Amino acid sequence: MKFIKDSSSIPVIDAREYIVGGKKVTWDGPMQEIFSPLRLEKDDGSLEIIKIGQFPLIDEDAARAILKSTVDAYERGKGEWPCMSVKERIPYFERFIMRLREQREHIIQALVWDIAKSTKDATSEFDRTIQYIEESIEELRKLEKSTEDVMHVGNVIAKVKRSPYGIVFCMGPYNYPMNETFATIIPAILMGNVVIVKPPKRGSMVYKYIVDALDGTFPPGVFSVLFGRGRTIVEPIMKSGEVSIFGFIGAHNTANHINAMHPKPNRLKRVYGLDAKNMAIILNDADIDETVQECLAGTLSYNGQRCTALKLLYLHKEKQEEFLRAFCQAVDCLPAGIPQEDPKITPLPDERLAFYQGLLQDALEKGAKVINEPALDVETYFYPKVLFPVTKDMRIFKEEQFGPLVPIVPFEDIEEPISVILDTEYGQQCSIFGKDPDTIAELVDFLVNLVGRVNLNTQCQRGPDILPFTGRKDSAVGTLSVKDALLTFSLQTVVSTKADEQNKDLFRELGDGRRSKYLRKDILF
Ligand code: G3H
Repeated sequence: MKFIKDSSSIPVIDAREYIVGGKKVTWDGPMQEIFSPLRLEKDDGSLEIIKIGQFPLIDEDAARAILKSTVDAYERGKGEWPCMSVKERIPYFERFIMRLREQREHIIQALVWDIAKSTKDATSEFDRTIQYIEESIEELRKLEKSTEDVMHVGNVIAKVKRSPYGIVFCMGPYNYPMNETFATIIPAILMGNVVIVKPPKRGSMVYKYIVDALDGTFPPGVFSVLFGRGRTIVEPIMKSGEVSIFGFIGAHNTANHINAMHPKPNRLKRVYGLDAKNMAIILNDADIDETVQECLAGTLSYNGQRCTALKLLYLHKEKQEEFLRAFCQAVDCLPAGIPQEDPKITPLPDERLAFYQGLLQDALEKGAKVINEPALDVETYFYPKVLFPVTKDMRIFKEEQFGPLVPIVPFEDIEEPISVILDTEYGQQCSIFGKDPDTIAELVDFLVNLVGRVNLNTQCQRGPDILPFTGRKDSAVGTLSVKDALLTFSLQTVVSTKADEQNKDLFRELGDGRRSKYLRKDILF
């Protein structure tokens, strides 16, 4: 376990500005202070909480001003941005990428200090996001090209393309405050929608630099940033009835609460990534070395703070001894330290600790044991704990831990884990570890009807981002990925006419004569 020794390395992230009407505006009202999960070790050995920055707690009037600039930008579909051609829209994103790159080091440092993500993982979050924007632009070009031709169907000629929905309100999670939120923002704006984003409280610090990159980059009202307390600023946005899509990655109860504020439920489209409790099924012929490594990464990468983390391991009794010994050894060897030094285990947000303790106590009281040998927890270091045997009556069996607790359930009959997957409310992904093709085939063929992705001898994960990322039951609404998200945030629309000479001429004039942005062909490659 390590602490920060040098107070001069502590950043001061004064996120006093937010974006309204495409430009930075300075807030002079109350601010929310942000404290790091890291601690400063003083010369006398005492530990001190570290303040790293602050963000504006804007009020309802400021939130309404942001909403107005967004409504004005979309202009009920007549605005410059929704009517712009794809070819005209793309350069704004190229400029945005350039300006984000200028902020790369700041953004990485903000992730390191604010959410204690290791430098390596924080760097990968930034780089993956840039790659996501670049790949989305390429996909949009392909999509545009695929809709270039006019269709002739009987006596009808038509052009079918994709059009925006309107105003999109995005909220993302603390564990990927840039990457996952951008996974909804970028496709939404690329498709001609306009966006308001509310950063999460924990994870907000990167938005100081995103705001810097946004200043003057997009036309007014296309991409706005709303800092503040959810209960003050989210309500006026949602209650206005102006939002057409709510893009949300986080807990289902928050999503449902905000969704219910909208006065016109039929107008509101939802794009959600919600709670998950991905299961690993370790069969009696699993390769133990490979399974241990994948389960280690799957349960404890970034301390288990991933929606795709493996959150319940079902272990065949024939492999119990071998797996538990190797797995616990591997868990206890994970280096812990400050994220700047790229350890595997880093400090956790203060506000999460009581929840982890509660899950742990409950499991211990109901008969589970911590079977590895974790170091003694100090302050925000909560070392990984392997819990065995876990039973159905324990909270950790059902609740998403989103942290370094690894519950393991022994089984003999494959119907035991299957019945859990059938009954659970979650449906994001699962992993199967084993070798026998017949057994695996049988599992795969129905598990694909219960979850969004089945991983064979690998951990659960979202990437590569080109693959569809979705879930069933209460785990997701809609599909994200470089390609799917463009479809999710747009509606197929048609312009058609009768195939008589006069109307064919009109269609030609609108398209080939380049009169209509919708109907014309733009050379994109
Ligand atoms: O927190 C949920 C993320 O979507 C997980 O993404 O599998 O790439 O870590 P990842």
